[in-house]
Amino acid sequence: MRMPRGTWRQVATLVGLSLLVSILSGCAISGAYAPMSSVAPASDHAREINTLYRLVFYLAVIVFIGTMIASLWFTLGFRDNGRRQARQFHGNARLEVLWTIIPVVIVIVMAVPTFDRIFAIAEPPPSDAIKIEVIGHQFWFEFRYPDLGITTANEVHVPAGRAASFTLRSDDVIHSFWVPQLFGKVDLVPGHENHVWFTPDAAREEAYLGQCYELCGLSHANMRFRMFVDDTAKFDAWAKNEAAPRSPSAVAAGEAVFLRQACIGCHTVQGTTAAGKVGPNLTHFGARTTMGAGIMPPTADNLAKWIRNSADFKPGSLMPAQATATLNDQDLQALVAYLQSLK
Ligand code: CUA
Repeated sequence: MRMPRGTWRQVATLVGLSLLVSILSGCAISGAYAPMSSVAPASDHAREINTLYRLVFYLAVIVFIGTMIASLWFTLGFRDNGRRQARQFHGNARLEVLWTIIPVVIVIVMAVPTFDRIFAIAEPPPSDAIKIEVIGHQFWFEFRYPDLGITTANEVHVPAGRAASFTLRSDDVIHSFWVPQLFGKVDLVPGHENHVWFTPDAAREEAYLGQCYELCGLSHANMRFRMFVDDTAKFDAWAKNEAAPRSPSAVAAGEAVFLRQACIGCHTVQGTTAAGKVGPNLTHFGARTTMGAGIMPPTADNLAKWIRNSADFKPGSLMPAQATATLNDQDLQALVAYLQSLK
């Protein structure tokens, strides 16, 4: 069998391009370059998932290579050369049994460890696990620590090396909770409780990125959160601060504006009369590293624009716009300074 030179060149280009695509798509496999990758696991739970993923991946590689070799072999070996007439026949019992058995074996090899891990992951958490409630809202995450008296939003802290057990609920529509490096995706369903728990490996300065993974409305893509894995001392310090009322050094002028504006209808700042439950608890807003559910840094400029009209950043946001008629520029600046002072 002889192929013309051009055909070889085409085959080589095709194989080269396919290799390039598969190799380049694997470029980011860990750390800061792959913040949303489940193949860089950092907890027991995520490792279980990654082990299964690898099993399925390597099986798929074997099937892929086998199928490609067979396809190339038949394509090149049996192509029409104008001389041979293909032999006509019907059925081959041995082959048919073989290619029924092989996929069944592959499915069994994948299914047994998968079911085993599903049941293992569904085991109840250890009794010393830290309890955290997650409530999905359009479009932000509320986090409550019932045993520590903490209510916060969009940034959740867990101690390294200790199991963290999450109870998941939703206030409106179905959302989904996922930090790819730490645990598998679980839905937040209205009227139904879901659970997930895991033990993060080690403390890390940089937050793990999380995201809502269930289409939940206009700003589904803007519904993000951060999970910080702290060492025990850092976690305890964070928790102590979060459980306390707002900082006594909070800007007084801004607080006066906050308390006479519509803000208090939706937001809570512990230590003041603001006790709204519709929007995120802002008691320690100034200690967060992001705003708007993890979409941007809480700079004065971003905050001012957000208060004027949050829908500019986040379509579908329930926070009403504040025109100059209801909130003048001076008051807005005071409000921004106040929010930033809520450490
Ligand atoms: Cu919440 Cu998508």
